[in-house]
Amino acid sequence: MSLQFKKLIVAVFALAFLAAVITVGFIEKSRYKPANAGYAYADETTRKCIDCHDEKHIAVVWNRQWENSRHAQKGIGCQACHEAKEGDPDLWEHEGFNVTHVPSPLDCKQCHDKEVEQFTNSHHAQATRFIGSMDNLLGGIVEGTPAANLGCRQCHGSIVQLDDKARPIAGTWPNTGIGRINPDGSHGTCTACHLRHNFALEQVRDPATCGRCHMGPDHLQIEIYTESKHGINFASHRDEMNLANPEWVVCVDYIAAPTCATCHVSATPTMAVTHDIGARISRTNRPPVSKDLENSEERRGLMKKVCTECHGVTWVENFYVMYDTAVDHYNRKFGIPAMAEMTPAVPSYRINSNPSAPASRRRSPAPTPSDWPSTARRATGTSRESLTSSAVTMTSPTKVPTGSRS
Ligand code: HEC
Ligand code: HEC
Ligand code: HEC
Ligand code: HEC
Ligand code: HEC
Ligand code: HEC
Ligand code: HEC
Ligand code: HEC
Repeated sequence: MSLQFKKLIVAVFALAFLAAVITVGFIEKSRYKPANAGYAYADETTRKCIDCHDEKHIAVVWNRQWENSRHAQKGIGCQACHEAKEGDPDLWEHEGFNVTHVPSPLDCKQCHDKEVEQFTNSHHAQATRFIGSMDNLLGGIVEGTPAANLGCRQCHGSIVQLDDKARPIAGTWPNTGIGRINPDGSHGTCTACHLRHNFALEQVRDPATCGRCHMGPDHLQIEIYTESKHGINFASHRDEMNLANPEWVVCVDYIAAPTCATCHVSATPTMAVTHDIGARISRTNRPPVSKDLENSEERRGLMKKVCTECHGVTWVENFYVMYDTAVDHYNRKFGIPAMAEMTPAVPSYRINSNPSAPASRRRSPAPTPSDWPSTARRATGTSRESLTSSAVTMTSPTKVPTGSRS
């Protein structure tokens, strides 16, 4: 073997070794660097947000999620949602940009007008009305404000307050309660259901999205669903549910099971998606005695259209008869008699009914069901003032009026 040839072999091995080192180094490096192919979609401003946040390691997860989102593909950059205009109460001067911490439905409205309108007119956007209710007063006194901030308000919503630099104040934010009152005055938050920054349809159609709030003894919809045949089928056939499909029409794009969204939000072959979650329910079972909603037959018709995509008419009609009879039975056996018993304890119903009895002993007649709509548990006013003053009452329980209990 000539010296020349030996040199060649050594050189080849050296090069191969070098190549191996470079390859391994590259692989190791990319393991620590998250993939960000979606960066290509970013406009100039968005690149500045992403670059600096990546470099300083600020909330980098939002960068990666945004890059993988439909919004990125469509060129909807950070400032489409985060920009605050001159004069906006939530304008935070941030690294040369006017940014808001709290994108609200008004920020989505420029592009998703229909969804914002339907949502804003639904009970969901009004869920902070509970702040003036008796239950809330009890929650505030018995549990205390720190608990209410991490309890009631995480589902119902807080009133987001800002400091003098337009940064949200602790206690009021982070909060994505469904009826949150935003610094720009709008009600509700889309990110209660749509987790940012993927805003993925697959996630929002998942029953867990609703179960975050619709759970526990007062409103156990997720428990009922999970243990029902609908929930069982969803769990066993999740991979057939086509959850990520852009279109999601029941019995066209999937048939295995309905989710909460199927019945209350999503499309059928004859109905469009609605962001008014009350549109298809005909009554509310929330008050002690259930109550039919306005246009209840029409609303019920919409829900039946969902059922009959999968079930036969007799099945559905019989189910509703059984449901109505059960509710009626409950009302007669428990709701109405319990109201008659409990009513004298409720101050607003203590009206003199028996003029011959001594004033301290007079009891009021039982209210009829219509005297007790669910609004009796709710605050009467929905103005910002009434909500704010209730919130203040809640933070200082000593200010609660001490009505006589005799
Ligand atoms: C030059 C660097 C830089 C640029 C450019 C930048 N940011 Fe930031 N950003 C930061 C730093 C540092 C923080 C954390 C410190 C703070 O909150 O002030 C931050 C925090 C934030 C927060 C608050 C997060 C929290 O929970 O407190 C938001 C919202 C935000 N940035 C949005 C944006 C948006 C949107 C853009 C682009 C329009 C942007 N930033 C551009 C550096 C930057
Ligand atoms: C489609 C609308 C939308 C877009 C686009 C968007 N965001 Fe957000 N962002 C939101 C919403 C909604 C929130 C939640 C705020 C809340 O309701 O409390 C949020 C919150 C944030 C927060 C604060 C939350 C935290 O955990 O600290 C940061 C930081 C942030 N976004 C950065 C970005 C950056 C950077 C981009 C661009 C790469 C971006 N966002 C693009 C809607 C958007
Ligand atoms: C500047 C316009 C713009 C703004 C602002 C905006 N979006 Fe979008 N959004 C779009 C476009 C465009 C699409 C893609 C529609 C399509 O697929 O054809 C989209 C898609 C979506 C989708 C479906 C995602 C998917 O995977 O198909 C959701 C959910 C969504 N947006 C929610 C929001 C929410 C919530 C906000 C406010 C926090 C918001 N958007 C703000 C333009 C916008
Ligand atoms: C896990 C989420 C969650 C928490 C925590 C929570 N709620 Fe609720 N609350 C709901 C949901 C969901 C409803 C709607 C129930 C239904 O339709 O069956 C509701 C309904 C109500 C209602 C009835 C509203 C009406 O229109 O009749 C009142 C009042 C209320 N909640 C007060 C409170 C108070 C006070 C607290 C804290 C002590 C609290 N909630 C904590 C989710 C929650
Ligand atoms: C109660 C939960 C919930 C809230 C709150 C909510 N959405 Fe949705 N949203 C959904 C569901 C579920 C879907 C999926 C519908 C389907 O199956 O296509 C959806 C779909 C969408 C889509 C995709 C287009 C479509 O019609 O399928 C957009 C855009 C959207 N939402 C915007 C918003 C905006 C803007 C807000 C705030 C005003 C908002 N959403 C609040 C549950 C919600
Ligand atoms: C962040 C908490 C939260 C999430 C998430 C949520 N809800 Fe609600 N929902 C509430 C509260 C609170 C109420 C009671 C609002 C009120 O005061 O009337 C409510 C009320 C309702 C009602 C009664 C509507 C009416 O008109 O009386 C329906 C139906 C409903 N939700 C369905 C859903 C579905 C379906 C989802 C998921 C796609 C969902 N919710 C997600 C908190 C939530
Ligand atoms: C198979 C269809 C279907 C599914 C799946 C479904 N619901 Fe319902 N939901 C209904 C019907 C039907 C009613 C009663 C309507 C009526 O009284 O007219 C109802 C009523 C409600 C109410 C009203 C309570 C009240 O009395 O005010 C809430 C809240 C609710 N559903 C939430 C959910 C949540 C959350 C899920 C998922 C965990 C879910 N639903 C899954 C069909 C469905
Ligand atoms: C996406 C299709 C789909 C939709 C929409 C749907 N269901 Fe179902 N439902 C099913 C399947 C699948 C089963 C399980 C049947 C079985 O194997 O026993 C089921 C079971 C049931 C059961 C259980 C009966 C038993 O044997 O325990 C009832 C009751 C029911 N559905 C009523 C309804 C009502 C009422 C609606 C509308 C509010 C509805 N369903 C909407 C698919 C659907």
